[in-house]
Amino acid sequence: RELEEIVKPLLEWFDRNARVLPWRDQPTPYRVWVSEIMLQQTRVEAVKPFYRRFMKALPDVQSLAQCQEEELLKLWEGLGYYNRVRNMQIAAQTVIKDYNGKIPDEYAELQKLKGIGSYTAGAVASIAYGKVAPAVDGNVLRVLSRVLLSREDVLKQSVKRSMEERVTAIMPAERPGAFNQALMELGAMVCVPNGEPHCTDCPLEKLCQAHLQNVTGEIPVKKAK
Ligand code: ADE
Repeated sequence: RELEEIVKPLLEWFDRNARVLPWRDQPTPYRVWVSEIMLQQTRVEAVKPFYRRFMKALPDVQSLAQCQEEELLKLWEGLGYYNRVRNMQIAAQTVIKDYNGKIPDEYAELQKLKGIGSYTAGAVASIAYGKVAPAVDGNVLRVLSRVLLSREDVLKQSVKRSMEERVTAIMPAERPGAFNQALMELGAMVCVPNGEPHCTDCPLEKLCQAHLQNVTGEIPVKKAK
């Protein structure tokens, strides 16, 4: 069966079940960028209050670029991994200096910024700019590996690359941001990593090869690199 069959049920499920999250209304490039950086090592519920406070203090690229280090670190206190916010400020300064203050809208261009890898670049390009670009994180790798019953090592860069290509190939041009968020959301809410995934609630139940063969617990495969 073709992977493309997931698109319609996944989008319909997302339209019915998407959580209301502070960065989902007004998904500007800056708001999407900040939220995705916060969400990289921190859960959605924990991020929410930090996100609101951060946006109030530093509402745009300019204010982030100019912020004093002490205030910046204070805003990040509790989130940990301080290099994330240090890199974000360096990237903001680059955006001011080299991009006239406008966060780039191209997937490749976004990845040139400090701290922005393929995942964050794809999230910003698709959610904020409506461009077809993949946003494949650990959640998405798990969902896709299960649907496809892939036993390839998801920790391999080549496997991630290949999944990014497959996602790009089926992405609906009218709703790339919704599609990427639907994959993330399914991974976070239904196709969960530990214990039993909630397959009876899954819009992909009838298409998911791991579920159909009763091996969700074996997938994704994570070997050391
Ligand atoms: N995890 C990371 N990014 C997310 C997003 N945009 N929506 C929901 N969960 C996420």
